[in-house]
Amino acid sequence: MEQYIMKGGNPLVGDVTISGAKNAAVAILPAALLINGTCTINNLPNISDVKIYCEILENLGAKIHWNSTNELTIDTRNIDTTEAPIDLTSKFRASYYIIGAMLGRKGEIEVGMPGGCKLGARPIDQHIKGFEALGANVDIGQGKIIAKAKKLKGASIYMDITSVGATINAMLAAVLAEGTTTIDNAAKEPHVVDVANFLNSMGAKIRGAGTDVIRIKGVEKFGDCQYSIIPDQIEAGTFMTAAVATKGDIMIKNVIPKHLEAISAKLIEIGAEVVEFDDAVRVSATKRLESTNIKTLPYPGFPTDMQPQMAVTLALSNGTSVISESIFENRFRYVDELTKMGATIQVDGRTAIISGVEGFTGADVHAPDLRAGAALVIAGLSAKGFTTVSDIGYIYRGYEQFEQKLKQLGGEIQLVNNEKEVAKFKLKIG
Ligand code: EPU
Repeated sequence: MEQYIMKGGNPLVGDVTISGAKNAAVAILPAALLINGTCTINNLPNISDVKIYCEILENLGAKIHWNSTNELTIDTRNIDTTEAPIDLTSKFRASYYIIGAMLGRKGEIEVGMPGGCKLGARPIDQHIKGFEALGANVDIGQGKIIAKAKKLKGASIYMDITSVGATINAMLAAVLAEGTTTIDNAAKEPHVVDVANFLNSMGAKIRGAGTDVIRIKGVEKFGDCQYSIIPDQIEAGTFMTAAVATKGDIMIKNVIPKHLEAISAKLIEIGAEVVEFDDAVRVSATKRLESTNIKTLPYPGFPTDMQPQMAVTLALSNGTSVISESIFENRFRYVDELTKMGATIQVDGRTAIISGVEGFTGADVHAPDLRAGAALVIAGLSAKGFTTVSDIGYIYRGYEQFEQKLKQLGGEIQLVNNEKEVAKFKLKIG
């Protein structure tokens, strides 16, 4: 029963360094399959999703050497199977990038249906639309996806929905296709741009990533490359809300402030102080903050992956706030848990109405998904008394050294494995 135990009340104060972006890493790793050579990837977050991805790539025949905690070299010269392990690929969402990459590399792949956080239906029709437009056949059945293409040919792809995953998958399948591909209504998230930059660094010809229209001129092959992943926008945002919810003062280093604008704007609006530096933001709050309304939207709108952390902040603010979730239909599963800590939140479909309370009290809660798990930890660190958060495997998926980083900022938090360790923590912290 691995869980975090914490005693809330300490303002989080000090410096924290943000790791590489999870959602870029889980696309860049499979993108390396397209090289048929070697590449070194730096600023990789050391998180469980990355480790599972490495296992999947090794199963396909890649050789991976970790040069340090956050850098690896991957050799994809001997990719000798087109069957990715079903048990591993069905564990998480981003395994769908194997399809785009392997269609480009081998013209064929069999993977498990992608799993991941249960945020709603999460269809993959736009991914399939992209593959089929490029000339692939896709069959789905018995928990598997089988995609095959004799020859991939450039095409015009119009995405009916702005989808991060479908945009990246279309880029992966198109970079080695014959001719030119256009992706209209493309997602513009920073990690979409990072994947395009990675592919370009190995010789792809992608223009327009970060805008609505991405143009890709197919090339014949790629060369070896070295690449450093961008900092994680959501990890940074999580620490920004942690500073505010605990009335602390955190210098958040290794960030791209531009990627944080939607989050900074909302925090400033409710009365927090946010100061931008070249590659850092300092976030602090000294008083109780005010309410606001938020609607989650594709980038550059307010990110859905910051919605639970922001809800925790607003649940402690003065007045009534409304959050509308426009990306995933089932992203309020943390509300029942937060209610146990004293939050007053009413959910009606995709809308949460939050009546701010003066403070939370500690409770035993469980993480329903990755970002909600991080949000509940922040709630615990701002609550009176002890809180335990279980099902923290979700948090490991996306946050490197979360507990250590919070401890470094003065948070009383510990990973515990049994009741004895819980009792010991309570005795020690008092
Ligand atoms: N959608 C479709 N059809 C598709 C693809 C998506 O209807 O073929 C819908 C989805 O159901 C959703 C919307 O389009 O309503 C947007 O989904 P998108 O494809 O953009 O999301 P994703 O690729 O499944 C990525 C991140 C998520 C993040 C979303 C939105 C990865 C591995 N995951 O998911 O990250 O919430 O984009 O920004 O990149 C997280 O990190 O905690 C996380 C859930």
